[in-house]
Amino acid sequence: MTLLADLEPAFAAAFRDLGADPALGRLKPSDRPDMGQFQCNGAMAAGGALKRKPRDIAEAVVETLRHDPRFKSLTIAGPGFINVVLADDYLVQRLEAEARDDKLGATPAENDRPVILDFGGPNVAKAMHVGHLRSLIIGDSLQRTLRFTGARVISDVHLGDWGLPMGQLIEELRLRNPQLPYFDLEYSGPYPEEPPVTLDDLQELYTAASRRTKEDESAMEAAREATRELQLGRPGYLALWNHFVAVSRKSLEDEFGALGVKFDLWEGESTVNETVEELGKDLTARGLAVRDDGAVIIPVARPDDVKEMPPLIFFKSDGAMLYGTTDLATIKRRVDEYDPARIIYVVDQRQHLHFEQVFRAAELAGLGKDIAFEHVGFGTVNGPDGKPFKTRAGGTMRLNDLLTMALQEATKRLDEGEIGLEFAAEERAEIARKIGIGSIKFADLMNNRLSNYIFDIARFTSFEGKTGPYVMYAAVRIKSVLRKAAEQSIAIGELRAPTSEHDLKLMLRLAVFGDMVRQTLDTRSPHLLCDYAYALGQEFSRFYHECPILIEPDAVQRGAYLALVQHTLTVLEQTLRLLGIETPERM
Ligand code: ARG
Repeated sequence: MTLLADLEPAFAAAFRDLGADPALGRLKPSDRPDMGQFQCNGAMAAGGALKRKPRDIAEAVVETLRHDPRFKSLTIAGPGFINVVLADDYLVQRLEAEARDDKLGATPAENDRPVILDFGGPNVAKAMHVGHLRSLIIGDSLQRTLRFTGARVISDVHLGDWGLPMGQLIEELRLRNPQLPYFDLEYSGPYPEEPPVTLDDLQELYTAASRRTKEDESAMEAAREATRELQLGRPGYLALWNHFVAVSRKSLEDEFGALGVKFDLWEGESTVNETVEELGKDLTARGLAVRDDGAVIIPVARPDDVKEMPPLIFFKSDGAMLYGTTDLATIKRRVDEYDPARIIYVVDQRQHLHFEQVFRAAELAGLGKDIAFEHVGFGTVNGPDGKPFKTRAGGTMRLNDLLTMALQEATKRLDEGEIGLEFAAEERAEIARKIGIGSIKFADLMNNRLSNYIFDIARFTSFEGKTGPYVMYAAVRIKSVLRKAAEQSIAIGELRAPTSEHDLKLMLRLAVFGDMVRQTLDTRSPHLLCDYAYALGQEFSRFYHECPILIEPDAVQRGAYLALVQHTLTVLEQTLRLLGIETPERM
């Protein structure tokens, strides 16, 4: 149970006894740390509801709780804010219990039905760009945090492998190498095992195909036709497509590996191909899908809509399926296969309308009865000009180039700071790698996910300010303190009551770890993890500066300080792990 979950019931009961809504007994860390550690603002609303002076309500609540040994003091400020200061004993007991708990005081997840987390969403043949990077980083942080609380997560990369780009690739290759057996309708196999293209070829083919089909309507028509034939199962096209997917997947796995992101499922839009026909028939039979100008659509608008809600297009007039078709069929598949409690899509906010259509269609189809659909959107990564981030030449910025940039900048930072000069080259390279990736992840996650941010690699890799390297360095310093203590045979002792505002602040921060995790999950907001890690790093620094642990003369106090240091490291490293950031042993 988290700290606040332990304290709030007493406040809730006090409000209930006064005839007020128990939900008003909520606590939060204080906005005025000089007046209290936590505060309860419920008296204001209770006063309004009960037509009583809020201050009287606050007094009555405080009176009820006066003898609760968990509080050192409860005071009232202004119109009726209740300021809470915890008893030292209670704080120490909480921290001891949290240090023994492998969840460090976080609430375990309740639902045993799985959560499906759909993120990443790269597309075959197209290099991943910064939008995919955000989905990967945010999705992975949610995946890690959910798993940490014990939720059953099934992550699915949902590969973009079944749309028009596939037909564009097939056509482009056919124009260049018409003699390949994949295009020969007479040929009955077996098709070659070696892929006819490399990853570079694929990307080049796709670029050329996009240009060609944009300029030439008949080329576009041919690409559409190839897409349709692929979806209908033309053997040569399927064999070719299998190569495209395998080649792409190999390189995607490398990139995800570099980022430390893992998926349980490598399904894609194509996975549901066989089920689409039947789903379409079923929806049509039930009157949910209707014919419209040769196409099959699912009207999803509702009378109370304030904005226009276009129908979901299930089949285009040429019979091809679209992005919404595969997403809807994928929901059916997920429901049938995994019986999830929830499906979360971590995708660019600009796709919000799409998900709204898909979720509505799923509900109409009766797929959403006891399952929650959620689109967790995010803003764009912009360049210094405030427009979506591009390369100097104006092309899309690729994930790989970005990671290379981060690695170079991290290495430069290490050189400038003369950090780890005495380490072996390999270890130093490993540190640079962790810093490069940690910088990017932290800089991405620290913003409210819906805001856009400006990509500034120099700022992201700085050791000063609210950055990944700052927080990673804090963790590394703690490791070095613990190493020094071990070298001097100073034993880690038992936690003790705080001796100053510095260790007190640190202890309070540690004690709200579980509440912070809860809030992160409730709002799908990994930036709260970043705020927390940064604050913890700063509070540790101040504490370490003001309370010289290793030269503390009192041995028991020294041991107590070390226990606090040890717990700080555990919590800080765990927070970084939830962000997907690895901490070096030293630097
Ligand atoms: N492939 C898509 C894109 O690049 C993202 C897929 C997101 N997931 C989904 N189920 N639609 O935009």
